[in-house]
Amino acid sequence: RSRQDVLTCTPWGSPIVWEGTFDPEILRQEYGRRNLTIGLTVFAVGRYLEKYLEQFLETAEEHFMVGWRVIYYVFTDRPGAVPRLGLAPGRQLQTRMVENQKRWQDISMMRMHWLSQALDTAICREVQYVFCMDVDQFFVGAFGLEALAESVTLLHSYFYRWTRSYVPYDRNPRSAAFLGPGEGDFYYHAAVFGGLCPRVKNLTESCFQAVLQDKRQGVEARWQEESHLNKYFWQHKPAKILSPEYCWDQAIRRRGDIRVARLVWAEKQYRRLRQAA
Ligand code: GAL
Repeated sequence: RSRQDVLTCTPWGSPIVWEGTFDPEILRQEYGRRNLTIGLTVFAVGRYLEKYLEQFLETAEEHFMVGWRVIYYVFTDRPGAVPRLGLAPGRQLQTRMVENQKRWQDISMMRMHWLSQALDTAICREVQYVFCMDVDQFFVGAFGLEALAESVTLLHSYFYRWTRSYVPYDRNPRSAAFLGPGEGDFYYHAAVFGGLCPRVKNLTESCFQAVLQDKRQGVEARWQEESHLNKYFWQHKPAKILSPEYCWDQAIRRRGDIRVARLVWAEKQYRRLRQAA
């Protein structure tokens, strides 16, 4: 109720997190009693490693779940090239080897498979909550406990004010990601999602199965795994939604509703970075 200018609750009763809707001190006391470790997965494959990883990790140290135990899981084709950073006490970094793919679309979609596999075993034993993020972004403000919930997704900064008929859902009935007229809730950006480990495992596994189904049909969803994630969260309502503060594109003129930015898009350079390795 502290924010009248934005939607702070979904029709199914999940909170939408905006600056001014939570009290970090109350959250700190509440979670302080629990033995909490939070995972943060990120993919740095091919040229994305040199271009983005260091800044992503350095700024995460400054702003992501500061004061809490965090394990960074870096998935990469070149573990030896991962920058060695001094991490705050209680925070550690692990690398996981993955194979580069010829097409960036396949790297993007395979992430769901790699995550689902990794969550099956080690990660779920080490952390309670896990966030999965794109690497081509960096933190500029606090990203803290207010973002935790059983399942968490993010409003896309370009589409959060649009009605669902105009957002870029997959509209091909042959794709498993298809959403028809009247379907879908919001448009979610796959650059950030998370939640309790078993829930994220379920999401990543379901999205990957949907990707495979599309491959068998010879189709590819409009925004690859993001389209499947949108379908998934329409069918399995998220427990919490992060406002676009949590992944803002600074190229968009800020309206009064965006009072802070916490994570921002880095310069994309798709053409150069996505050329086959
Ligand atoms: C772009 C973004 C893509 C995808 C797309 C959806 O701005 O870079 O990752 O989310 O929007 O239209």
